[in-house]
Amino acid sequence: MATGQLREVVFVDGVRTPFGKAGPAGLYYETRADDLVVKCIRELLRRNPSLAPERIDDVAVAATTQIGDQGLTIGRTAALLAGLPQSVPGFAIDRMCAGALTAVTTTATGIAFGAYDVVIAGGVEHMGHHPMGEGVDPNPRILAEQLVDPSALVMGKTAENLHDRFPHLSKERADAFAAASQAKLAKAYADGKIQPDLVPVATRSSEHGWGLATADEPPRPGTTVGDLATLKTPFRPHGRVTAGNAAGLNDGATACILASAEAARDLGLPARMRLVSYAFAGVEPEYMGVGPVPATDKALARVGLTIDDIGLIEINEAFAVQVLVFLDHYGMADDDPRINPFGGAIGLGHPLAASGVRLITQLARAFENRPDVRYGITTLCVGIGMGATVVWENPAHADAGQVAA
Ligand SMILES: CC(C)(COP(=O)(O)OP(=O)(O)OC[C@H]1O[C@@H](n2cnc3c(N)ncnc32)[C@H](O)[C@@H]1OP(=O)(O)O)[C@@H](O)C(=O)NCCC(=O)NCCS
Repeated sequence: MATGQLREVVFVDGVRTPFGKAGPAGLYYETRADDLVVKCIRELLRRNPSLAPERIDDVAVAATTQIGDQGLTIGRTAALLAGLPQSVPGFAIDRMCAGALTAVTTTATGIAFGAYDVVIAGGVEHMGHHPMGEGVDPNPRILAEQLVDPSALVMGKTAENLHDRFPHLSKERADAFAAASQAKLAKAYADGKIQPDLVPVATRSSEHGWGLATADEPPRPGTTVGDLATLKTPFRPHGRVTAGNAAGLNDGATACILASAEAARDLGLPARMRLVSYAFAGVEPEYMGVGPVPATDKALARVGLTIDDIGLIEINEAFAVQVLVFLDHYGMADDDPRINPFGGAIGLGHPLAASGVRLITQLARAFENRPDVRYGITTLCVGIGMGATVVWENPAHADAGQVAA
């Protein structure tokens, strides 16, 4: 237990299911959400055979909608279903789009404090089974007392609000960013950067029979700005946010192993990133997309870093405009090579509470090829006006702090 000294926390490994499109025609419509989590946990154990399952101290699984196949304290039930010993506890967690990221920061804090040595943290969202806002009953005071603007409750409308507030971040720029994101993702697939962290999932369909999901369903390689120019704007007549410059509605799960640096060393587990800092921030709910800016400022300031120290940025692309706000704030070009080098949620999809660990896993992959980069961040905007940022260090960098090899 706690000794008064914080311990180093390292990222060991991360996996995810291929992401599917939500809805009756999607890959996972007849697959349970908790089974997607189980596949991720099993895969982590398969890939890391030196980790005895009984050494896992907790399993944190995020889901935004915690009912049905995402209910029943999903971290605990998924752990049991994955065959972890009954002695391994688990819990459920929610911070909407930053659910998995919060599962990571919460359990990482437990590791730093000395309550845990090794944990599994991840997230799931089956938006086909659980559409956004399912079963919620917002307190009438939220709107009656104008605590938030009504648009704050519809994420696409918050993205339109960003276009209003920052008119120079035009639809043309959002579309150009989206097309480039699809192209980066297609290249990453062609270069084999995405596949190593995917766990194949058996799928079933009453119409088509059994199948095997081995690749993401949402990507639209070859998308051009011309293709995007004429798409409908579902959130506002003559708006700027479209299906092409937003993340879609998706199903998928993610999970990762975190450990104290000592436990990783003792168990022979790789330390692929070191946790440096994290922060969450609140912003005006109707402009939720700006959240990554104050969260990043806070996370960097806590450890005396600035954005100039950051060589790789995995930012969730809920909407292109919200990434442009981030880039604009820090004086970065729309095509800055530090941003999402393997593409992002516009192509891959964004199963809400799962996405944080997708970003983290992708950053660890990106670090592998870039020993010249010491620090990277993973960041997301979050519904009801929040931002979440985690700063990571690349152990391959010459100046990296002491972490287990
Ligand atoms: C934007 C949104 C409403 C679109 O939903 P949808 O209409 O079901 O999306 P679809 O995939 O059917 O795409 C709509 C159309 O755009 C087209 N399209 C989408 N992406 C395209 C691309 N890259 N290139 C060309 N066409 C594209 C589709 O083919 C479809 O065309 P059709 O109407 O002729 O069939 C939905 O994806 C959404 O709500 N996204 C945001 C999710 C969100 O809020 N997440 C939380 C963030 S905080």
